[in-house]
Amino acid sequence: MKPIQVGLLGIGTVGSGTFEVLNRNQEEIQRRAGRGIEVTMVADLDVARAKSIVGANVQVVGDARKVIANPDIDIVVELIGGYGIAKQLVLEAIEAGKHVVTANKALLAVHGTEIFAAAHKKGVMVAFEAAVAGGIPIIKALREGLTANRIQWLAGIINGTTNFILSEMRDKGLAFNDVLKQAQALGYAEADPTFDIEGVDAAHKVTLMSAIAFGVPVQFDKAYVEGITKLEAQDIKYAEQLGYRIKLLGISKRTTAGIELRVHPCLVPAKRLIANVEGAMNAVMVHADAVGTTLYYGKGAGSEPTASAVIADLVDITRLHTADPLNRVPHLAFQPDAMSNLPILPMAEVVTSYYLRMRVADQAGVLAKVTGILANADISIDAVLQREAGEGESHTDLIILTHDCVEAKMNQAMAEMQQLSTVLAPITRIRKEELN
Ligand code: HSE
Repeated sequence: MKPIQVGLLGIGTVGSGTFEVLNRNQEEIQRRAGRGIEVTMVADLDVARAKSIVGANVQVVGDARKVIANPDIDIVVELIGGYGIAKQLVLEAIEAGKHVVTANKALLAVHGTEIFAAAHKKGVMVAFEAAVAGGIPIIKALREGLTANRIQWLAGIINGTTNFILSEMRDKGLAFNDVLKQAQALGYAEADPTFDIEGVDAAHKVTLMSAIAFGVPVQFDKAYVEGITKLEAQDIKYAEQLGYRIKLLGISKRTTAGIELRVHPCLVPAKRLIANVEGAMNAVMVHADAVGTTLYYGKGAGSEPTASAVIADLVDITRLHTADPLNRVPHLAFQPDAMSNLPILPMAEVVTSYYLRMRVADQAGVLAKVTGILANADISIDAVLQREAGEGESHTDLIILTHDCVEAKMNQAMAEMQQLSTVLAPITRIRKEELN
């Protein structure tokens, strides 16, 4: 059978990895897919550079629409990124009847509903394994491997840049800004690193995982997003003393009232495997009723790890593209007419536990007042740590770990504690998840 023909839109880090791995492993890939998979056309603004990567046998053009217009191309791989021209090109490719593979988490998290609806109408596939956690086959696991289960929650380290920063801050006691520069130099960060450090990249990814896990539409605009820019080295140290590590987690949980969808720094017990995921590595924990807890670990970025995910999608499409569209695996795991309308919960309704650090006057009755406010709010304390005041200091740090409570109650209690004349600085709050 004639090979399936692939057109790449963009041949940067992931595109060149895809080209390289497809060529290197073509014999094995063909044995798996049932026919060859060949990149026959590439569009890139830098035509000369693209030609130097793919050689003379692949047609290189500067205009992506030429790839979409080519009737011989079966699958378009979008590796441009962003919501602008990439969105236009993906919709045009779908309209032209092409299957689409994309690594573009931002595009799908924000415009997924429109894109999947267009693909459904046209009977083509849009595959996006590479959009979440790079080389880890987490989309496949959630959508297919765990299909027997009622998934209850998932929690992941899904941004390598921030995990690298947090690991370096903990290991070397470095300040946030110094490590960020290092992460940029190592090429982990997004083109706009604020997407990494403000939690936006992780929120794009957890939005996609949540949709697949619970059968709800992609709703990035309802996600709670908090990054790591305000984290202080002292909190990492105090957390350590209490037996926890701080990680930037993307969390989504099903509750009876709705779905929690959130990204924020989080204390995780140091003994959990996920707490020991270091550097730029990614990991996702999934808890489901039949299988229990599973953990997926690997490289969340990089040329060949991400290419591994892109090619897995190419093989899937090659196997399935002659199947009746109604019998293919649904884009978001659940049949489009069987999606749930369970709402995404506002952060005030999320239930979690907390780490609080407050700078307090070192005098009698301070602890009683603070714990009194928590008791009145029905918030139960799990542990307390008080730093010994330094010589000549009249203040100290009080660290409190709480049990679970609804966020609205904690907001109220924090506002009251902040009013105390003996609380000398803004209270630091970091959420905590036991993940058991
Ligand atoms: N900037 C991302 C990260 C790359 O740091 O994980 C992969 O999406």
